[in-house]
Amino acid sequence: MKTTTRRTLFFSLLACACLLAQTAARAADFKRETVYQIITDRFFDGSTANNNPAQSSGLYDATKTNWRAYWGGDLAGIQQKMSYLAGMGVTAIWISPPVDNLNTNIPDGSGNPTASYHGYQGRDFKRVEEHFGNSANTWTDFDNLVTAAHSSGIKVIIDFAPNHTTQDNAGEFGAFYDNGTFLGNYTNDTNGYFHHNANISGGGWDDRYQVEYYTLFDLADLNQENSTVDAYLKASATLFQQHGVDGFRIDAVKHVTWGWEYSFANSIFTGGDSFLFGEWYQGNTNDPLYHDSYKFANKSGISLLDFPLNTAVRNVFGSANSNFSDIDAVITQEASNFTWDEDLVTFIDNHDMARFLSINNNQNRLHEALAFIETARGIPCIYYGTEQYLHNDTSGGTDPYNRPMMSGFSTTTTAYQLLNKLSTLRRNNPAIAYGSMAQRWINPDVYIYERKFFGSVALVAINKNDVTGYSITGLNTSLPVGTYSDNLTGLLGGSSITVSTGTGGNNPVTAFTLPAHTVAVWQYTEGAALPQIGSIGPVAGQPGVKVTIGGRNFGATQGTVKFGTTTAVVNSWTATKIVATVPAVANGSYNVTVTASGGAVSNGIAFTALTAKLIPVTFTVFNASPTVTGDYIFLTGNTVELGSWATTWDGAVGPMLAPNYPNWFLNASVPAGQTIQFKFIKIAAGGAVTWEAGANHTYTVPASGVGFVNVNWQY
Ligand code: NOJ
Ligand code: NOJ
Repeated sequence: MKTTTRRTLFFSLLACACLLAQTAARAADFKRETVYQIITDRFFDGSTANNNPAQSSGLYDATKTNWRAYWGGDLAGIQQKMSYLAGMGVTAIWISPPVDNLNTNIPDGSGNPTASYHGYQGRDFKRVEEHFGNSANTWTDFDNLVTAAHSSGIKVIIDFAPNHTTQDNAGEFGAFYDNGTFLGNYTNDTNGYFHHNANISGGGWDDRYQVEYYTLFDLADLNQENSTVDAYLKASATLFQQHGVDGFRIDAVKHVTWGWEYSFANSIFTGGDSFLFGEWYQGNTNDPLYHDSYKFANKSGISLLDFPLNTAVRNVFGSANSNFSDIDAVITQEASNFTWDEDLVTFIDNHDMARFLSINNNQNRLHEALAFIETARGIPCIYYGTEQYLHNDTSGGTDPYNRPMMSGFSTTTTAYQLLNKLSTLRRNNPAIAYGSMAQRWINPDVYIYERKFFGSVALVAINKNDVTGYSITGLNTSLPVGTYSDNLTGLLGGSSITVSTGTGGNNPVTAFTLPAHTVAVWQYTEGAALPQIGSIGPVAGQPGVKVTIGGRNFGATQGTVKFGTTTAVVNSWTATKIVATVPAVANGSYNVTVTASGGAVSNGIAFTALTAKLIPVTFTVFNASPTVTGDYIFLTGNTVELGSWATTWDGAVGPMLAPNYPNWFLNASVPAGQTIQFKFIKIAAGGAVTWEAGANHTYTVPASGVGFVNVNWQY
């Protein structure tokens, strides 16, 4: 048993090393990654030359006492810490928005200067912020960072905020620029670049129209349905792709026009492989817009930060009272709603909430929570400084006190070592990256769960109780018969287990004691087997778009990739990662399979072939069928983008919005240049469907830009 395990590990390490070297820029499969979130200004000051640039002087505080000023961290600083990051097992960094931000100081209520050190007030999305790069706002420092990261096997994700520019009522009044050329501002908006609505407040946070079209915290709300804004945002993202970024964390996706975002994602995927995940803030799976969140993730190809799991993780590890069933319930619920729950980005804390140690200053609990997100389903994201136990508890440790300057770069902390070990395991054992997740043993303090991908298995046991050990009896696992040592080599108190013969994937584990505050990880990585697909990304795209297929046992020699029965062009092939081009198939759902050169065929994975590149079109239907509370008007039509005539809440496009009831509208992304057929339907609260009468509407979607359709409901 031991020899087999060791040999498997050796081969996976080899496979992994060449994977990193060859494919640092192939990024659509992130399930094996460990992401590290950095607020660039607060990480490391690599160059003092950019601390107080002329065009925005006075926003820097060398004393680091004004928490809302720039403190000196920059792109060069991140670059200088690359080996520190790689040594921790970080394989991707998510950096705060790097684009040129607000140049002026906006005093806070007490007259203290505040600056956009966090990057969420962009003024020029095609230039790099001078505090992070240089005073000419060029790409030099950014490019150097990307090059250094890629040569360390680290991918780069930028935070991108398409919802807004700068504050609309102060400072630069929303003014934005296209690589230095003034485009417009909020106060004199003759071109309709912005929405001019009130701030989202009160019940508006749960109202789809207000959430998408009202203003987020006084930030000038971009109108993505405007052709100039649409082109500008897409070209900006493309520019970042050309500068080598591997992924985008999309800020406030819930507040950007949802339908437009499908076309934004498609524009990025058309430009090249990328991993996209959005910030859709919600407390839990009972949120009124939770259903919208997973419909969005399932159809747009934009994954989400896993806020419901974040809440449960903070409750379970952060407090004494909350028990593991909270986490288990979220995992189960999300697995049934999200088509790609392994793509959800999981986290313990971030720049918008108190750090974990501010809510519970207990390092055992922090280690347990870290071990959980590294081994649970979803892509783990670690907030900078967590490994140094960084926290400042002023005002409960919330924003801005959750953004202290990085305190140090020790490589010997337990958290740093833990992350290194578990990141390595995530890369090597496909059960962690791609596998199912099932609870095997639970009580309020103990959670034992199993990850499984074909024959590869990881069994993880956590006891969060700080004083009480538990006797674990009656535990079953899919691990093959044998003795397993703790993959963490006892770092968090774990020891070995023995597994004996059982039936039906239920091999009994000999009773053992799980001591107080212990995490143990036992794993088995299966050897030779059929080709196994664990991932495809993007999950939707038109013919010509490149997709990355992640998995194992594809073999060193190139074989075949099929979309249904149609063979695709293969662009690159390794034993664990294939890049292929979506063939010219009709729009719809396909099962994608890999056939190894020897003829062995993999499992299938679902992919949606779009008809063509997506164009955002605003559909308005006047005087629609009357509705009562709970009824909504939806759009449905003859292509997969329009739901292929589906009549269900999840299948049709919508719900539409009715700020001017009984007129309904919706921006939806539809295939460029195609003449589409569509109708509007009413889906009543109970699911009953009312079709509009008459012939189908038809519309020829523009080949580029944006479109508008206005029709009357046909009675
Ligand atoms: C969410 C970001 O995470 C937060 O930090 C930011 O202030 C808002 N969006 C607005 O961009
Ligand atoms: C069924 C609907 O009844 C009809 O109104 C609609 O036009 C067609 N689907 C589309 O083929």
